[in-house]
Amino acid sequence: MREECGKMERVEMSIWECCELLNETVDESDPDLDEPQIQHLLQTAEAIRKDYPDEGWLHLTALIHDLGKVLLHPAFGELPQWAMYFQENPDNKNPAYNTKYGIYSEGCGLHNVLMSWGHDDYMCGAYMHLMNEEDIENLKWLKIFK
Ligand SMILES: [Fe+2]
Repeated sequence: MREECGKMERVEMSIWECCELLNETVDESDPDLDEPQIQHLLQTAEAIRKDYPDEGWLHLTALIHDLGKVLLHPAFGELPQWAMYFQENPDNKNPAYNTKYGIYSEGCGLHNVLMSWGHDDYMCGAYMHLMNEEDIENLKWLKIFK
């Protein structure tokens, strides 16, 4: 799947067009299905801008933080729901991956971890044992999104 998705040949669009496309995407794991996705993106970005007016990069991060969900949309290959929600991933039932470290080593860094996971998992510290110093340093920024 990684190889297939990494080809970057499916579609080209602006960030705003991608935000609009997200509105057509249904993430069954999202607890706020009644709220339009684009509204969530804008509210998050505006709240961050209000609290951190000098951190422009953080405003953009807030705006795009859920855009990965467009991988569920047909324009991006219509990945299965488990690609966005770890519990439904078939690997979740594979004993080789169901130990504390699975195929990874302590502190290997999240950039080396290949799996379906979302910002909530990271924010809740579910993978602290795999994080390196940079991941731990960056976690403080993610906690702003709470
Ligand atoms: Fe979100």
